[in-house]
Amino acid sequence: MAGFATALNIWFHYLHLSRWTIYNWVGLGIPLRFIAKPSLDRPLHKHQRWLQAAMKILIKTPKDCTPEELTKFNQLVLLGGQVEPNGLGDRILNCRLLGLCFINNDLVGVSAIKQPIETKTKRIKERAKVHNVTIPQFELGYSVTKEEFRGQKINSSLNDKLLEEIDKNETVYATTNNDAMRNFLTSRGFKRLGESFEGSFNIILDYYEKTLK
Ligand SMILES: CC(C)(COP(=O)(O)OP(=O)(O)OC[C@H]1O[C@@H](n2cnc3c(N)ncnc32)[C@H](O)[C@@H]1OP(=O)(O)O)[C@@H](O)C(=O)NCCC(=O)NCCS
Repeated sequence: MAGFATALNIWFHYLHLSRWTIYNWVGLGIPLRFIAKPSLDRPLHKHQRWLQAAMKILIKTPKDCTPEELTKFNQLVLLGGQVEPNGLGDRILNCRLLGLCFINNDLVGVSAIKQPIETKTKRIKERAKVHNVTIPQFELGYSVTKEEFRGQKINSSLNDKLLEEIDKNETVYATTNNDAMRNFLTSRGFKRLGESFEGSFNIILDYYEKTLK
């Protein structure tokens, strides 16, 4: 029965309906709440337990992805609106790892470990006025969660799993203008270095870096 209630939860969320509204409509509020407690006692958008259970996270190399996964990854990155569309497919194929989060077979979040060429990384560090000698081999990026699923730890879960796959002592950097990403990076020990700088698309970016332990 609890499994049935969880399935209903996921379906209702998919339709963007409040569970309270649904239970009032169908008159099952008390029994369902009793059986499936505690997963039903708060409005769905604030609750994460059921979402965590429904989430399917895949961490794959690009060559292990299906063409459909690559296409969906590409589309979601474009939805984030912060990348140059020309050549994006090739740049995705060049990533070290891709992270994909599905809910009900819908791709709701993506992130990646990129392997930028050294000259690009050097240029970014120069623009950020970061003068340490490290040239990180990896960049955490292509992080996008569909708007209606934001704030549910989807990006944090993807990034944690991606970073777990990278060898210790490797240095990873990220540039961002996004508060959720800033919070993720600082809470995981990334240090903000240098100065804010102007990126493409007229956004002001901050540079973060961490050597994995
Ligand atoms: C950045 C983005 C991917 C975050 O996705 P998300 O799934 O909502 O992120 P999470 O829910 O995992 O939250 C990430 C962290 O930020 C915090 N956070 C979530 N929403 C936040 C907000 N609106 N403001 C500040 N912090 C926030 C979370 O607490 C979490 O930190 P924690 O893991 O230390 O607790 C999403 O906002 C997005 O797609 N933005 C548009 C594209 C973009 O700007 N991408 C960033 C490119 S670098």
